Amino acid sequence: MTVHVADVFKNAKEGKSVGLRGWVYRYRKLGEDKIFIVLRDGTGIIQSVVKKDSVTEKVWKDAENLYIESSLIIKGELKKDERAPGGFEIKISDIEVIHQGLPFPIQKDLSEEFLLDVRHLWLRSRKMTAIMKGRHFLIEYLREWLNNNGFYEVVPPIITKSGAEGGADMFELNYFGTKAYMTQSSQLYAEAMIFGLERVYVLAPSFRAEKSRTRKHLTEFWHLEPEMAWVGQKENMEVQEELVSFAVQKFIKENEDILRVLNRDPEELKNVKPPFPRLDYEKAVERVNELGGRMEYGEDFGADEEEILTKEYDVPIFVHNFPKESKAFYMREDPKKPGTVLADDMLAPKGHGEIIGGSERIWKLEELEARMNEVKLDPKDYEWYVDLRRYGSVPHSGFGLGIERFVKWVLNLENIRDAIPFPRTITRVYP
Ligand code: 4AD
Ligand code: MG
Repeated sequence: MTVHVADVFKNAKEGKSVGLRGWVYRYRKLGEDKIFIVLRDGTGIIQSVVKKDSVTEKVWKDAENLYIESSLIIKGELKKDERAPGGFEIKISDIEVIHQGLPFPIQKDLSEEFLLDVRHLWLRSRKMTAIMKGRHFLIEYLREWLNNNGFYEVVPPIITKSGAEGGADMFELNYFGTKAYMTQSSQLYAEAMIFGLERVYVLAPSFRAEKSRTRKHLTEFWHLEPEMAWVGQKENMEVQEELVSFAVQKFIKENEDILRVLNRDPEELKNVKPPFPRLDYEKAVERVNELGGRMEYGEDFGADEEEILTKEYDVPIFVHNFPKESKAFYMREDPKKPGTVLADDMLAPKGHGEIIGGSERIWKLEELEARMNEVKLDPKDYEWYVDLRRYGSVPHSGFGLGIERFVKWVLNLENIRDAIPFPRTITRVYP
């Protein structure tokens, strides 16, 4: 019988017999008669030692021929050892090599680009394993909050006829002789579903053929898009801060181990609780200029401006009431501040950038038609979307949270690429 590394540490006792299966994480031969193997499995790492005089000749030979990442089953006895990680090491009595394999191509000090070329192997590293676990739990907590607050999870089509965010950045497909596109956002489809279900969310990939070569852009990212009937922009923003705070607080409470491996100090996230500061777009532009940036009214926040604006905060902030020309066609104009829309961007602290974009949607037929006319959208491509405003239309709002942006911030990653197993960027579609 075998157990996992984490279980061994839970009930460790001097002299206890254990069996484990896993992979060689570190390997060192000491003199002619001792081999140290650090074994890893899905739950952690543990040190073990093979001594030539306490195993059979075959086991010793097998141990001598192991590589980094060879897979194996080991049996042995626990021994207290202050220097070993976790305070115990295994004195090996038997090794069954499952797959010796070839010398592992990833050694120390390799370039970022090489590690991306061998991403399929680099995903075994402790860093990537911790990030992938972190991503799993963050998504779980986001879903948990939504499920407990009256939302249904629904699924959208990925292949579509029209863009949601202004069609310039779409990947085009030949769909049996007609043009179709990879979806930029599932929002328009989520909107269709609120009339039956009232509160829905989609978790699906979105695609952007943006030529942005930054640490925050992917061409394929996972997008969490809640949509709510009978909700205005004020409540929309409250939902966003509740959702984000719940996921962050639960994450730091329950995942110390992941945070430790990634060197992320949970103290830096402990103030992430509602309400988040709210800045009118106009004030935000002024603030950027006061703090030494340079920006004009009407411009979007670039990476530098976002960094300047969020430097002083340890919680995300909202920027709201953007000029309507700078935003998508479906956003409702603020009757209290004409020329601006009822929209918000949630910016994460310390330059991690925009993690959410949300808005109240135009829900009246004439308003939507007028706006589409203004921005020269062909109503033919959006007929079904316009149709939603013909039958019992209601005020509604929603938002989109970029999963990888969220993971990047919570885990404090340098680059968004590490928040997804197989990143797609303008220069990479392999592996
Ligand atoms: O601000 P965006 O473009 O908004 C929408 O797509 C709306 N339709 C969402 C909605 O209201 N349902 O995108 C929303 C979020 C951004 O805040 C960001 O977190 C993420 O999606 N995002 C990206 N993440 C990684 N790479 C990219 N190229 C991204 N573009 C947007
Ligand atoms: Mg946006």
